[in-house]
Amino acid sequence: MNNAAIGVFDSGVGGLSCVKELTALMPHEDIIYLGDTARVPYGTKSVDTIARYAKEDIAFLEKFNVKMILIACGTVSSVLMSRPLFEDSTVSEYSGVIYPTVAAACAATRNDRIGVIGTPATVRSGCYGRAIRELRSDIRVFSKACPMFVPLVENGYTDRDDPVAKLIAEEYLEGMKREGVDTLILGCTHYPHLEGVISSVMGSDVRLISSGAEIAKYAERTLVSSGNAAERTEKGTLELYCTDSEELFSENVETFLGHKDMIKISRCSVK
Ligand code: DGL
Repeated sequence: MNNAAIGVFDSGVGGLSCVKELTALMPHEDIIYLGDTARVPYGTKSVDTIARYAKEDIAFLEKFNVKMILIACGTVSSVLMSRPLFEDSTVSEYSGVIYPTVAAACAATRNDRIGVIGTPATVRSGCYGRAIRELRSDIRVFSKACPMFVPLVENGYTDRDDPVAKLIAEEYLEGMKREGVDTLILGCTHYPHLEGVISSVMGSDVRLISSGAEIAKYAERTLVSSGNAAERTEKGTLELYCTDSEELFSENVETFLGHKDMIKISRCSVK
């Protein structure tokens, strides 16, 4: 049993897709979330810059003596595959989104054609394709960077029928439809917030795999099997930190988590 909090971070509100699943799966865990909203997006930046930001985010969460850090950001997770972001860290339990998400997608596909959408940095890194081939070399992978999805989400254009979101999604996903993928990895944790729009464009038979939800399921499996899950009768607390305006962030929190009750939201600095 370990009642220390779980630390989760993302460049913005995307990682709330992980938090939502985490609170549903493990309601008794305390969660500390950091959204680096002052510097979002990470996905259009260089690997050096993303690594520097990620190390500052990790150092911020370490101050809370968290028992585990979840990188609920596809972009930072792709950098983690080639850079040792945790080498000086005091936290020994951590995970990025790539492997848990790839495992779920490989289990889901029936026609062995998987699509991956993510930020330019994630798609450029080729990390999803490599991880899928390590598991199943017979699967064909089709990737597409969708840089305009993140600003749509950060600014609340997420409604299934939103005409702007729909137009952009049609443009980005045309190739995926043509390739006949039956499983689509939402390789950026912002994208599950656009699930309705993406699903309406791809069609309801295409399985959407949320990287945010998959890392949350991974955390549950790991904490339970290592005996480090929290044991308390009351619900866990949820503390959210953002590095820019609390106002816009709280609106997004309400939209994406469905409520703001009992959630502490504060502005912080990570530098
Ligand atoms: N949520 C992010 C990801 O999963 C980041 C988007 C961004 O900052 O560009 O990649």
